Amino acid sequence: MPDSSLRLAVLISGGGSTLQNLWEHVSDGRLRGVEIALVISSRREVRGVAIARDAGLPTEVIRVRDYPDMPAFSEAIADALDRAAVDLVVMAGFLCLWHIPPRYTGRVLNIHPAPLPNFGGKGMFGRHVHEAVLNAGRTTSGCTVHLADNEYDHGPVIAQQTVGVAPDDTPETLGARVQAAERELYPRVIQEVADRGVAWLRAQAESSR
Ligand code: GRF
Repeated sequence: MPDSSLRLAVLISGGGSTLQNLWEHVSDGRLRGVEIALVISSRREVRGVAIARDAGLPTEVIRVRDYPDMPAFSEAIADALDRAAVDLVVMAGFLCLWHIPPRYTGRVLNIHPAPLPNFGGKGMFGRHVHEAVLNAGRTTSGCTVHLADNEYDHGPVIAQQTVGVAPDDTPETLGARVQAAERELYPRVIQEVADRGVAWLRAQAESSR
């Protein structure tokens, strides 16, 4: 077990329920050896920012529109991560694509509310994902934690949790069931990284190739 805390950055764009869940896990000790060192939000006026500030977490708003292009936006994110000496980045409803610089390769996780590689990609977020699963007539759905690369919802899968689809499900009822699974899966994977070290993540990614 590493002797110092894993310094986590949480990237958000909206509601912040994933952030809230992680924060609750850290503050009541269910997530051990983890510290939320930074929250980055791509939007200013969102509930996630209020959650972060109420929790007293260091928070930065970094918006696409404040930078001339995607490389500059990405660099601003990476600089903030450097300043906070972040070990692991978790995207938690972060809706912007950014270029992960080489020094953070293998250290950025995302959670997606569907069993990737299906039902992912640009525009596949929130209700759209669950609608697509229902329209495809699937009997199961779930959530996926994967290492992020520079494409939407893409990169080596680290863990998945399956949930059943009920015949009378709506995007909302299915979404709620998937979110409940997310609330278990993300902390479980982060605990694993805290216990085994960030190098373990890279090894997982390499063995899944
Ligand atoms: C999460 O449910 C996750 O599946 C996806 O975006 C959602 C974010 O919700 N990546 P919130 O902003 O954390 O409330």
